[in-house]
Amino acid sequence: MFQAVSKAFFSLLADSNTLKTLASRYGMRGPKSFARRFIAGETVDEAIAAAREVEAAGLTQTLDLLGESVASASEADTATRVYLSMLGRIVDAGIGRNISLKLTQLGLTIDRATCVDNLRRILDEATKHEFFVRIDMEDSPFTQVTLDVFETMWQQGYRNVGVVLQSCLPRSLDDAKRMNELGARVRIVKGAYKEPRSVAYQDKAQVDAAFVEITKLLLSQGTYPAVATHDPAMIGAARAHAAQHGITPDRFEFQMLYGIRRDLQQQLVRDGFGVRVYVPFGREWFPYFMRRLGERPANIGFVIRGILAER
Ligand code: FDA
Repeated sequence: MFQAVSKAFFSLLADSNTLKTLASRYGMRGPKSFARRFIAGETVDEAIAAAREVEAAGLTQTLDLLGESVASASEADTATRVYLSMLGRIVDAGIGRNISLKLTQLGLTIDRATCVDNLRRILDEATKHEFFVRIDMEDSPFTQVTLDVFETMWQQGYRNVGVVLQSCLPRSLDDAKRMNELGARVRIVKGAYKEPRSVAYQDKAQVDAAFVEITKLLLSQGTYPAVATHDPAMIGAARAHAAQHGITPDRFEFQMLYGIRRDLQQQLVRDGFGVRVYVPFGREWFPYFMRRLGERPANIGFVIRGILAER
């Protein structure tokens, strides 16, 4: 209940232009700025530096250029070009070849054909250099179309691409079965968006129970699933299921967000599991940042301290 209210509150704040201006002014100003706790920086160079640090600590990474719901085909084209040049930069840097992206950033809200064309441009280049591309899942108006676009790509023979399913949506259990049938790679998450009662569980216990159910299904019947959570109870359930059914750690991975529960990330690595860190970067960091605050309002304390210290 508290988490639902907090998500709603922070998603309202995320629409505030004043707050966005204030945050953009102070959030990334110095190396110790408050937004840097969750965001690697605004440039590809900063993201690559953060990725190197992650890898030096024994983890793997996926780089995400922040941005969503672009307003025009030319903005979608710009985002696509940045992704394309980023692929080259990652190859040159010699770091792991794994990226995450959002379809609304590639023009999904403008028209689907533009988005599919842009995604294909990225997947073609990604295939050439053996990248894996994860399509993040956005809020529920985009669930079906995101899965449809994914399946279009899959039918066209792309195999270096995977999806995300959110356990807060009751439909995700069926979607997971479908993805298992295809042999597609799924990242399972709880879901970061404030969703209406008509499509999503409102009760944390139900979201958690669904997470465990889908995780077990993916571990037993899926293709290299990613269990993406910072919740020790979810991680414990995944580990227990894997151990019970002889599913070895090379058949799945855990994933966590940059800057969250680094202790737990390290612990899992010490225990012999693969852990991939989602490293977001870019100028459009504000909505992502607000979702992280909404998940844990205690984080607001360090933001306020950060703003006061930097004024
Ligand atoms: P939960 O929110 O119950 O938190 C469990 C514990 O984790 C907390 O008690 C706290 O210790 C810690 N924690 C969680 N969030 C924190 C925060 N912001 N700051 C500090 N501590 C925190 N969502 C989505 O809708 N679409 C997507 O594509 C993705 N992609 C994605 C990739 C990866 C790698 C991860 C880890 C997560 C996502 N998410 C996502 C976000 C996901 O849906 C969810 O909102 C967050 O992971 C928080 O949920 P937890 O599973 O961590 O549990």
